Amino acid sequence: MSFLTRRTAIDGHPDHAHGSGLKATLGWPHLVALGVGAIVGTGIYTLTGEAAGLAGPGAMLSFLIAGAVCAAAALCYAEMATMMPRAGSAYTYSYAVMGETVAWVVGWSLILEYTVVCAAVSVGWAGYAGGLILSWWPEAPVIFLKGPEDGGLVNLPAVFIALAVAALLALGTRESARVNFVLVIVKLVALAGFIALALPAFNSGNFSPFMPHGFWAHEVDGVKFGVMGAASIIFFAFYGFDAISTASEEARNPGRDLTIGIVGSMALCTLIYMAVAAAAIGAMPPAEFATSQEPLAHIIRSLGHPRAADLIGLAAIIAMPTVIMVFMYGQTRVFFAMARDGLLPKALSKVHSRFGTPVGVTLMTGVIAAVLGGALPLGRIVSVANAGTLAAFIATAIAMMILRVQQPARPRRFKTPLWWLVGPFAVLGCAYLFAGLSTFTMIVFVVWNLIGLAAYLLYFRTRSNLATL
Ligand code: ALA
Repeated sequence: MSFLTRRTAIDGHPDHAHGSGLKATLGWPHLVALGVGAIVGTGIYTLTGEAAGLAGPGAMLSFLIAGAVCAAAALCYAEMATMMPRAGSAYTYSYAVMGETVAWVVGWSLILEYTVVCAAVSVGWAGYAGGLILSWWPEAPVIFLKGPEDGGLVNLPAVFIALAVAALLALGTRESARVNFVLVIVKLVALAGFIALALPAFNSGNFSPFMPHGFWAHEVDGVKFGVMGAASIIFFAFYGFDAISTASEEARNPGRDLTIGIVGSMALCTLIYMAVAAAAIGAMPPAEFATSQEPLAHIIRSLGHPRAADLIGLAAIIAMPTVIMVFMYGQTRVFFAMARDGLLPKALSKVHSRFGTPVGVTLMTGVIAAVLGGALPLGRIVSVANAGTLAAFIATAIAMMILRVQQPARPRRFKTPLWWLVGPFAVLGCAYLFAGLSTFTMIVFVVWNLIGLAAYLLYFRTRSNLATL
């Protein structure tokens, strides 16, 4: 069979059915916690400022648009994840529906996404860590708190947290789902505290002019402004639910649990973000917090609550690493799925005999995220992460629609409502958000995939499990 068309079976049994793979131990509360743990992070804590700088108060609309596109994609994910509860998410769905070559591009894009998200959240974490360090130690050398493009030398806190999370994961720290649960609550309580303190200072005058940079995305000095430019960036704040589907092989009751996990955590986060963004813009004109590395703490500090600001910063510092953890975990699972299919070296799915974790790939991901996070500014990294994610979302929505047409009678444990509308909306919405990314990002994305395709055509194509059939 040609490598262009060969596909895996949709009904292929998850490995644990053969007793050789991952164990099914996760229920829906774990999945919602995993979802909220992966979704709420740098996006709302830091990019709220970046988005307000790009769109002004119109950033509210950016949140709404990015949330709507993500919700549509989440529904497509839920349908595919419940049909194919196997590790690998968009990569696995693409392999079964659109063939190996498309799957390779999607898997390769997911690798870019997951590692770069880890770097981005490390930089977001470093913003709050730096703020707290300076609040307690005003003479701290700031050149070690920022990357070169932000006027520093190296962002040491970002390097530290990326390596620390990788080390914890390698030691098997993911076992402590209970700790993740507590941290999710810390994160949500901090956001609720922010809203409660910001609301009394609400000034509706801050919402005008509503769109100082217009609606459509337009590039100025390599940065895309406007409501849609901001939507393409703030999209970052909404994803993470796809990380749940990478864990779907470990769900106890995929039909019910994944639906609740994916759709529930998505809806919850959208509501929280709209409230936080409205409270932030109401409390302070966007231009005044747009460039802050810790915008929520900055706003609360300016309102005369320095202790509360430190506490919000502390909550972000304590809880944000869960996002890094979930994405690093997702990364190892994509490697696992691709290596299992013969499309990456088997060594990448190797589990350490003592720790029971894929130590090698976890540490490798940590080191790459640390290097990127230490050197690059947040906006640039986020934008690249979004490109990889948007490609995976588009592939998943297309796979869902193809299967609906080709196999309408196939049993589905979760059905995307109005699939003929939601599917195209997800594809076109994601494509449009992709178009709102900077030219630099698109070049990085294309070059990354050209390198990947070359590796596939020259080598991995012949190593695929299906090549020997
Ligand atoms: N949605 C995640 C965050 O905002 C990636 O940090």
